[in-house]
Amino acid sequence: MIKIAIGGDHSSLALKTSIINHLKQKGVVSADLGTYTEESTDYPIYAKKVSDAVLSGEANFGILVCGTGVGMSIAANKIKGIRCALCGDTYSAKMTRLHNDANVLALGARVLGEDVALEIADAFLENSFCGEPRHINRLNMVKELENA
Ligand code: RB5
Repeated sequence: MIKIAIGGDHSSLALKTSIINHLKQKGVVSADLGTYTEESTDYPIYAKKVSDAVLSGEANFGILVCGTGVGMSIAANKIKGIRCALCGDTYSAKMTRLHNDANVLALGARVLGEDVALEIADAFLENSFCGEPRHINRLNMVKELENA
């Protein structure tokens, strides 16, 4: 069974809850790693928690939400092994799974309407890495950048 680790800051509480409920309806289990209130907090905390859950194998994928999704994507992509894609459309969400094997999706709660955000999450979770040699090669090149 697919399991998602999800986290967000104070700006994205409502969207995080919507995503969790949406996933539940689809039979996808999610672990809500916070934040749990609207009190101002710092997005890197949740980027780290969600990324750690993905890297440990506790979750198959991560979803991170903040106001723009930008802070979350910047923070998560600092963590070795994380390929976090900030997506504002379903095509990018699909392609980042197919070609980049992204393991974390970032969404902007102040940028996207709820329905669009849910469709983007679906597109991300319903697609898989294509496994084509040229994309494997490119991902290996990205790994080299991580180790440089
Ligand atoms: C919080 O106000 C906001 O800066 C944060 O949610 C996010 O958009 C940062 O990238």
